[in-house]
Amino acid sequence: MPPSQPEAAALFHVIDPRVFDRAQLDDLCDLTTRVRLLAKHPDGARFLLGLLPDRRAMLYFVQPSTRTFLSFNNACHVLGIRTSEIRDPATSSEVKGESFEDSIRTFSSYVDVIVMRTPRSGEAARAAELMNRIPRPVPIINAGSGQDQHPTQALLDIYTLDRSFEEQGGIDGKVIGLMGDLKRGRTVRSLCYLMKNYRGVRLVLIAPEQFALEPDVKAHLKEHNIPFVDQAKLRDVLPDLDAVYVTRMQSEWDTAGETGKVNYADYSITPGNLGRMKKSAVIMHPLPRGPEIAPAVDDDPRAVYWRQERNGMWMRVAILLKIFRADGVVRDFDISALN
Ligand code: NCD
Repeated sequence: MPPSQPEAAALFHVIDPRVFDRAQLDDLCDLTTRVRLLAKHPDGARFLLGLLPDRRAMLYFVQPSTRTFLSFNNACHVLGIRTSEIRDPATSSEVKGESFEDSIRTFSSYVDVIVMRTPRSGEAARAAELMNRIPRPVPIINAGSGQDQHPTQALLDIYTLDRSFEEQGGIDGKVIGLMGDLKRGRTVRSLCYLMKNYRGVRLVLIAPEQFALEPDVKAHLKEHNIPFVDQAKLRDVLPDLDAVYVTRMQSEWDTAGETGKVNYADYSITPGNLGRMKKSAVIMHPLPRGPEIAPAVDDDPRAVYWRQERNGMWMRVAILLKIFRADGVVRDFDISALN
């Protein structure tokens, strides 16, 4: 039976957020909401669990990860996908000198999708190029590659923004502050790349000078006519923001204690600055957090980062559904029939 709605473009590799258009983003957000609502109901959860029991996923996470790993692992389990994992390169044949390409090709022999996080930029793209040359390619999902990209985080961030602004006309026309280590943080780079899909968005970049957004991302924003301003201090712009996306200083990349020179107070959200924010504003963070958001802020209804974290699992379910072309049956499921 044909699906009741036209299928949006299929997904294979998920490497670079620049390939997503507005129709795909809206479709993924809609699918994420359907999954989230279905999973709340035991019959809906069982329906999801029966969708992909014949599929297997490899989670290759050789850089620290808590929520991206757990949310992908659990997203697979929501759909009945079985998982294998390598989390420490010391336990893989890479220690015997096997090349990165041979390792990835080996994983692909056993599974139907590879989700990978590596400390080196560009490696997910290399894995995808390799897949495109071999007889049995499997999709590669980039779960964070060095300092360059984290596309699935950007997708869940878009979903969180979209959901937060549901009653306010969506993301279009919003003023979004991006704060923290904008130079070395891959989540902000990826999120900037998705902004071209929304009309009238303005970005306020709040970062210490040494951690300003890189020129290549600024060039992308200019090319797509996305207005942005550099702002050294949060205090001056807080009342204008519809959303503030806070990030931590990425001290693991320090070479000479650069993070230690940052005055955190200028790049932090504390209970003291909540009074200066719009009532409808949202505070986001990809997590893990450092001192840049005081735990006391968690109780403010504008703090949505814990919901954002859980959204990550539902968005990753939606991505897997698209990759395995099981999204149509989810769209056709009548949620209102569940009681
Ligand atoms: C981010 C990452 O790994 O880039 N974490 C995550 O995936 N939620 C952000 C960070 O580590 O600062």
